Amino acid sequence: MSEQTKIALVTGANRGIGFQTARLLGLEGMTVLAGARDAQRGAEAARALTEEGVDARVLAIDITDATSVKAAVQRVEEEFGRLDVLVNNAGIWGVTGLSGTDLFREVLEVNVVSVMRVLDAFLPLLRRSEAARVVNVSSELGSITSLTDPADPFGGVDPGIAYPASKSALNMVTALYAKALAGTPAKVNAANPGYCATDMNGHSGPRSAEQGARVSLHLATLPEDGPSGVLWGHLALAEDPDSHGVLAW
Ligand SMILES: NC(=O)c1ccc[n+]([C@@H]2O[C@H](COP(=O)([O-])OP(=O)(O)OC[C@H]3O[C@@H](n4cnc5c(N)ncnc54)[C@H](OP(=O)(O)O)[C@@H]3O)[C@@H](O)[C@H]2O)c1
Repeated sequence: MSEQTKIALVTGANRGIGFQTARLLGLEGMTVLAGARDAQRGAEAARALTEEGVDARVLAIDITDATSVKAAVQRVEEEFGRLDVLVNNAGIWGVTGLSGTDLFREVLEVNVVSVMRVLDAFLPLLRRSEAARVVNVSSELGSITSLTDPADPFGGVDPGIAYPASKSALNMVTALYAKALAGTPAKVNAANPGYCATDMNGHSGPRSAEQGARVSLHLATLPEDGPSGVLWGHLALAEDPDSHGVLAW
């Protein structure tokens, strides 16, 4: 394999786990496209990454907006001609003021439909990579096995329906894209960062955003013989609180 610098795009890289993922990929030597829907927030993140020595550029991308996604693809095509790593990190927990099916529709639009939009749009550039790695940032809350197991720490919590259902759907999307790309060098996996302290949960998680980002880093840098089509990440039930591995769907 050539020593070409890898080109990585992280959506929602302006804060939280996405920012830390961009940072870790950059510290690995990759050129990082820090995806952000707000130009100023993106520029601030890119500046902070650059100050750490990362080769970072802000990439305007609102994953819900097909025009924005198309423009982002065009820019990556013009500047780099390919994409090696795509971390579909941007996501939402809920929308203030919405409930029931209105909330469900909105959360699935961002967490599933928009991830597919981004993935489909970048697929031609990913196919030009020698070893494309796609990471869809999911959650253990999307594991039907975990959420229905009374012994699981999540068995007793009520995370509503929209968010867990969106991540379950994302898991299926991940498995089927991996299946479709079997036989190519590309790998598509879902990440479970674990419960991390970010804006999404009022910083209540016991893990840091960087610890969560290490899960995406692992999947973004898998070797040729690594898995494709798995949900991998933090194992909340393991004795060692920092255990990682494959989770049941
Ligand atoms: N934190 C946890 O404990 C945890 C656990 C499991 C999984 N996850 C997953 O990890 C990922 C990152 O979560 P986080 O905790 O870091 O959340 P966060 O701090 O709320 O950050 C979410 C990021 O997504 C971006 N985003 C939201 N909608 C977008 C859109 N339409 N287009 C582009 N970007 C958009 C946000 O941009 P703005 O700044 O512009 O809003 C922000 O950069 C999510 O997929 C989440 O579901 C988190």
